[in-house]
Amino acid sequence: MARLAREAARLANTSKFAEQVRQAAEAGRHVDVSKFAEQARQAAEAGRHVDQTQVVAEASRLAEQAQTAVKAANSLAELERLRVEYLGRSSQLTELRRLVRELPVEARPQVGGAANKAAQNMEGAFETRWAELTVAEREERLRSEAVDVTLPGVPYPKGSLHPSMRVVDEVVDFFVGLGYRVAEGPEVETDYLNFTALNIPPGHPARTMQDTFFLDEGLVLRTQTSPIQIRTMLSQEPPVYIVSPGKTYRRDSDPTHTPMFHQIEGLAVDRGITLAHLKGTLAAMARHVFGEDVKVRLRPSYFQFTEPSVELDVSCFVCGGADPKCKVCKGAGWLEMLGAGMVDPTVLSEVGYDPEEFTGFAFGMGPDRMAMVKYGISDLRLFFEGDLRFLRQF
Ligand code: DAH
Repeated sequence: MARLAREAARLANTSKFAEQVRQAAEAGRHVDVSKFAEQARQAAEAGRHVDQTQVVAEASRLAEQAQTAVKAANSLAELERLRVEYLGRSSQLTELRRLVRELPVEARPQVGGAANKAAQNMEGAFETRWAELTVAEREERLRSEAVDVTLPGVPYPKGSLHPSMRVVDEVVDFFVGLGYRVAEGPEVETDYLNFTALNIPPGHPARTMQDTFFLDEGLVLRTQTSPIQIRTMLSQEPPVYIVSPGKTYRRDSDPTHTPMFHQIEGLAVDRGITLAHLKGTLAAMARHVFGEDVKVRLRPSYFQFTEPSVELDVSCFVCGGADPKCKVCKGAGWLEMLGAGMVDPTVLSEVGYDPEEFTGFAFGMGPDRMAMVKYGISDLRLFFEGDLRFLRQF
């Protein structure tokens, strides 16, 4: 009788739980496994048999539910959320596994096994889907990031060369074509190289011609590119063929003078160099920059580091001397272009060259001035104000 009563109570208990499971499953809810745990504990205490079939069923139902959800997951983020929900620390499955420890010993293997199997199934499903989604997401990313190389490009605003630099390039190109090397020097120069070595000793009146920015300790802002001649000759044996573009500085400011301006220096030292070489070379340079028809003429002049010294004029490339009202040459027919001369023997000796064996010519020109003439610009200050409306015209 007692046995029958116990059996009835067991059936009542388990069937009550079975009913809950069925209802929960129908409503898509999870079964409250802790309730089962409680019931199971009570049953065990009362010496009753625990019916674990429903828990086992719930475990596989959970696994199935997880698998369905995992298969439907559309992103790695969603998949991760599901993983936490089904396998995480507060998931039903974890609760189920905790429960195993509370169960009577004989009930443990079956429930534990079911929980493990459910976990394995879920993990397998997660892994498969994770692999699928990773591939899909990478493909999607590649698709969305794909570049259509046939699309027209975005036009990039093009800069242009400064008028002075255009002239510098033309002149340097010409001399490089003749085999000259480009040499450069510092803008802060020693008094010795800027003046003394060029035959302008301290106290010489010629120094006052160049409104110098003096710095401390015998340094100056170079007033000319001529010190590059000295630097080059001190560093090598003749023959020398160099052209040296660079910035120069003088305390001067008006429509045709700016405190910073450009010069291009040239130097050729070799055996047998004459004034004829100088004239021929500079005439070819003038034709290269101003046009095939220009002529050149030399006028006597004075520079401390050349003897004889000359200035070179170029025939007006606009009117050719025919227009008395010409805006470029003002009717003169000639344009002053540069200073030049045969290198003074004193300068050659100063750098250790033998003036009996070697002669040379040198010249110095102002590319800013040349650009003013070439492009018809009357105010030199425009060159250095950085006004784009001006610069865009070149
Ligand atoms: N350095 C001179 C100046 O600034 C220009 C010059 C004249 C350079 C004659 C030379 C030269 O090399 O031979 O006025």
